[in-house]
Amino acid sequence: MCDALSQEILHWYDRHARVMPWRVGPAERAAGVRPAPYRIWLSEVMLQQTTVAAVRDYFNRFTARWPDVAALAAARDEDVMAEWAGLGYYARARNLLKCARAVVADHGGQFPDSRDGLLALPGIGPYTAAAVAAIAFDEPAVVVDGNVERVMARVHLVEAPLPAAKAELTELAAALTPQERPGDYAQAVMDLGATICTPRSPACGICPWSPYCRARAEGVQASLPRKSPKPAKPIRTGIAWLARRADGAWLLERRPGSGLLGGMLGWPGTDWSDMPQGAPPIEADWQPAGEVRHTFTHFHLRLDLRVAEVPTSAVPRRGTFLTPVEFKPSDLPTVMRKAFDLARTAI
Ligand code: ADE
Repeated sequence: MCDALSQEILHWYDRHARVMPWRVGPAERAAGVRPAPYRIWLSEVMLQQTTVAAVRDYFNRFTARWPDVAALAAARDEDVMAEWAGLGYYARARNLLKCARAVVADHGGQFPDSRDGLLALPGIGPYTAAAVAAIAFDEPAVVVDGNVERVMARVHLVEAPLPAAKAELTELAAALTPQERPGDYAQAVMDLGATICTPRSPACGICPWSPYCRARAEGVQASLPRKSPKPAKPIRTGIAWLARRADGAWLLERRPGSGLLGGMLGWPGTDWSDMPQGAPPIEADWQPAGEVRHTFTHFHLRLDLRVAEVPTSAVPRRGTFLTPVEFKPSDLPTVMRKAFDLARTAI
């Protein structure tokens, strides 16, 4: 049964594998081509919490600018954070750099070629270690992301809700992982989850696993996996001050290296809480400029914007004025970019 399942999905993947900039497709792979571990690692880090469509352009820009791990390790932190801007979950970019530097400093610029070796690198967790080991090195590592959990819950009719069911789903995924073509198999299950076994209306009519799918046999596939209700996110508030100097420079500051949006460029502001505290970064005639709403992993933010025009001689209490040559709005993380777009209409 396990063999039949892996044969069916590999056969399907041979015909329907999605094309991705980092992927070596099944035909090329059969001819002995292997992907560069650097490109697989980079793509897998980018793809966490994000879709292939959102990642494609970021991946192409990153690899054009930093074609291998040595180039990335030598990059300036600010440049990497700026290229990451908009992808979200900025700790991933900071960890990406740490990992690249460790590969260069401790492994002679070569990624370790096993799941366990990869797991020992900074910023590489169980998912990424397994995905890189499988896809780049054809190790039969067990790769489990949200797509794989959904597919396993349906094929095996797992009614227990996530996240409690995670261990069971991982065991089921392990039992199906074949010794033959484990890299193609891992990508095949993820492709199946992303294109056919989708969350709301799975296309069971064209699924290579539908004859084996216990959820489909019971007609409950669309309701699996079940999920325990998540606690509601609290709402936090804050103020951001956007000052523009007469010469077109904007007052910005780099956020501390750790924590939310760590290392990213942003507008000076209060903390984000129930009772935000803080004073404007510069003396000015501040005007209200609307509110930005943005949702983070653990809370909703309502950010009150204040704008002001200040003379070229004005000296800020905090932050640095960046001229139009020094400041690219695309360097901002999404919440700060939303603030900029709204404030510009008000000033
Ligand atoms: N999602 C995350 N990694 C993936 C991969 N390697 N193939 C398909 N979808 C993915």
